[in-house]
Amino acid sequence: MRLDKYLTQAGMGSRSQVKEYIRKGQVTVDGQTETDCGRHIEEMCCEVICRGQAVGFQKMVYFMLNKPDGYLSATSDEREQTVMELLKDTGRRDLFPVGRLDKDTEGLLLMTNDGVLAHRLLSPARAVPKQYLAVLSREPSPEQQKMLERGLDIGEAKLTAPAVFAWRDKARLEALLTITEGKYHQVKRMFAAVDCRVLSLRRLSMGTLLLDESLAPGAYRPLSTEEVDGLLRLTGLKVPAGPEAKEENQHAAK
Ligand code: URA
Repeated sequence: MRLDKYLTQAGMGSRSQVKEYIRKGQVTVDGQTETDCGRHIEEMCCEVICRGQAVGFQKMVYFMLNKPDGYLSATSDEREQTVMELLKDTGRRDLFPVGRLDKDTEGLLLMTNDGVLAHRLLSPARAVPKQYLAVLSREPSPEQQKMLERGLDIGEAKLTAPAVFAWRDKARLEALLTITEGKYHQVKRMFAAVDCRVLSLRRLSMGTLLLDESLAPGAYRPLSTEEVDGLLRLTGLKVPAGPEAKEENQHAAK
């Protein structure tokens, strides 16, 4: 089908409006700007994005962002800057952050349009481990370290789930805490429950995905095939078989 007809049928505007969008370079086909209104579109194979919005078939994309301090993990906010501003260059408007980091928390944030994977990574039932690096105000005692690991009362209905505590650098009070839940301010509240303040917090991993330490705060990169496959496998989703299959949307609802 012709591109202009395809966009009109998809409800993106009248024939003349969509022609205007195409001529203005506001439409991409498989990641390339397309200014030819008559371009042939294979409906189930081409990924068409019109003014930032995916139309019909949607390719799943995955980016790792090294979230800096000072940005909200949200898709929009009236007053504060959000992580979406850091991914403007992708040209995509269908991305969202997988879970939330506090405004002042830094580190690994997965940005994707894959709602199925996101839901699975965040599902409490899957207990996906997340490792944080916390710089503490003081050293928790060995008994307090055990409490962090066994489960603590942070004012929720239940104690926190078992966690893993380790020192990355004890002299600098740099602690590693791996948790499998994602309650509001969880790491800060867990340390507060043992009389420690978190002076800074950085997420280092989520499941099999590790923060790429070469990314400066605010920088992002696409996930490698291995990284995507690792997350799909971890969450019980089908891993595409070969290079051609990877172009297909394997599991997400159309
Ligand atoms: N725990 C926190 O306290 N803050 C975060 O941003 C993430 C986990």
